[in-house]
Amino acid sequence: MDNITIKGLTFEPYISHEEIAKQTERVAAEVKRDCATESPIFVCVLKGAFMFAADFFRAINMPKSEIAFIRYKSYSGTESTGEMNKILGLNDDIEGREVFIIEDIVDTGLTAHALRSDIEAMNPKSVKMVTLLYKPESLKIGKVPEYVGFEIPPKFIIGYGLDLDEQVRGLRDIYALKKDE
Ligand code: IMP
Ligand code: MG
Repeated sequence: MDNITIKGLTFEPYISHEEIAKQTERVAAEVKRDCATESPIFVCVLKGAFMFAADFFRAINMPKSEIAFIRYKSYSGTESTGEMNKILGLNDDIEGREVFIIEDIVDTGLTAHALRSDIEAMNPKSVKMVTLLYKPESLKIGKVPEYVGFEIPPKFIIGYGLDLDEQVRGLRDIYALKKDE
């Protein structure tokens, strides 16, 4: 795989689609094993998690499970703005249900924390976080996610749903910003 340049920044190959698929299968198997009910609801956090959520939802293969979508925005360029804006809320009735939040990445934890409190306020049976990527060194607030595909250092990454100012979400592999830039 080659480096790619976008908006004047150089990114190098970091996680291949084969590795992503393998860890997605592993995480899906763990979640399935731990499910207390047959019909959990998976809440995909748009936009970044859409690709992982689709692959995870296929991998878990639970016919009575459901998928829902929610949207927050906290990022601008390569930095978290630290402010949370809810753009699309949850209309599904989740009271008494087993809920799994599906995230692309947990960085400062701000989004995950806000999501958990909003969802907990809707009285579900339980709420757990499934994230493809987790940057433990960047976590500032909230819980460690229960299910993690990859723990990574605090690099800025793109691809497989993750964007740089809305671009490059369609890359099938994950790329990391080169250190010297
Ligand atoms: P947090 O609220 O700081 O934990 O960030 C969560 C959101 O910021 C994620 O759902 C992503 O959309 C975005 N984000 C965090 N780190 C990265 C990254 O390295 N690349 C692209 N987006 C990121
Ligand atoms: Mg996101």
